[in-house]
Amino acid sequence: MKVLGIETSCDDTSVALYDSGRGVSANLLSSQVDLHGVFGGVVPELASRAHLVNLLPMVDLLMERQQLRLRDLDGIAVTAGPGLLGALLVGLSTAKALCFAADLPLVGVHHLEGHILANALTADLVLPATVLIVSGGHTEVVHMPEVGVYERLGGTLDDAAGEAFDKTAKLLGLPYPGGPPVDAAARRGHPGRFTFPRPLMSDSRTVFSFSGLKTAVRTVVEALPRPLDDQTIADVCLEAQEAIVDVLCHRLFQAARRKHARAVYLAGGVAANGRLRERIADEAGRRGLHFLPPERVYCTDNAAMIAYAGWCHLAAGRTDPLSLDSFARAPLASWR
Ligand code: KG4
Ligand code: ZN
Repeated sequence: MKVLGIETSCDDTSVALYDSGRGVSANLLSSQVDLHGVFGGVVPELASRAHLVNLLPMVDLLMERQQLRLRDLDGIAVTAGPGLLGALLVGLSTAKALCFAADLPLVGVHHLEGHILANALTADLVLPATVLIVSGGHTEVVHMPEVGVYERLGGTLDDAAGEAFDKTAKLLGLPYPGGPPVDAAARRGHPGRFTFPRPLMSDSRTVFSFSGLKTAVRTVVEALPRPLDDQTIADVCLEAQEAIVDVLCHRLFQAARRKHARAVYLAGGVAANGRLRERIADEAGRRGLHFLPPERVYCTDNAAMIAYAGWCHLAAGRTDPLSLDSFARAPLASWR
């Protein structure tokens, strides 16, 4: 079964082909980082326009490289939400038009399900699993007894973990998105020079709060002499990252223990973070839980995860009508 995936929920245009016989046979990405970088964040209107310009040529390129015609496909999967409405609509309208033209089934995928199932592109899933979804817009813990069944255990009360990385980077004058440069700078950092808060650590609920960290980093950074030297930047990055990783790790394993999970997984852009992957691998090993981090290309937004999730739906006989709407927000619901 061959499924074309389309992802345009935020600032990356991506198209991919998942072939149940071969796995991911193509995963194309057009990043808009340069477009939004000067604004220090994603500008929704610019994102929609760039998707509009890039999407169809990327579909054409993928089909040409794979030597496929539309009618060789078994379906088209597209991110229906959550995300930026204008950006989502470009992907959804394109998917609908292609499905209508070639009489193909359409599958709308929840972006977070895509991120979760990205783990299945690296190795077969071990279930039941507890998943930590950490991206620019989300910080959630979801329990997954089987593919298509999702129980949300909790999430952030304010900022997402990715935002905490992005805001730390901005305060230090590092480029957007901030996760990768903070991750890289932290490797050169010396521990112990700064201390940042770990809010709600003693709370028994599955909750996170990152807005206090942003304030704490700002207070520390504003008191430092200018210009900031590289070592100081690295030292702040290291401790801010440790604070974020500490709370993420703590909550994930607390939830996994309660749910008697056999495995823990990471999902979303922040799952690319080297320190987070290392800490979760260590802790999972100590607790006898299975853990294999997703490949980094499948952590940040990509259409391969959407194509694969779409294939799971199609294989279970679930499709959507051409009247499907996009949505800016909605919790991840079970479909099985
Ligand atoms: O999943 P994603 O690509 O888009 C959303 O759905 O939000 O996640 C983007 C987020 C950004 O906040 C970015 O700074 C963060 O993921 N990120 C990282 C790393 N790579 C990307 N955060 C920490 N360390 C990284 N290596
Ligand atoms: Zn995402």
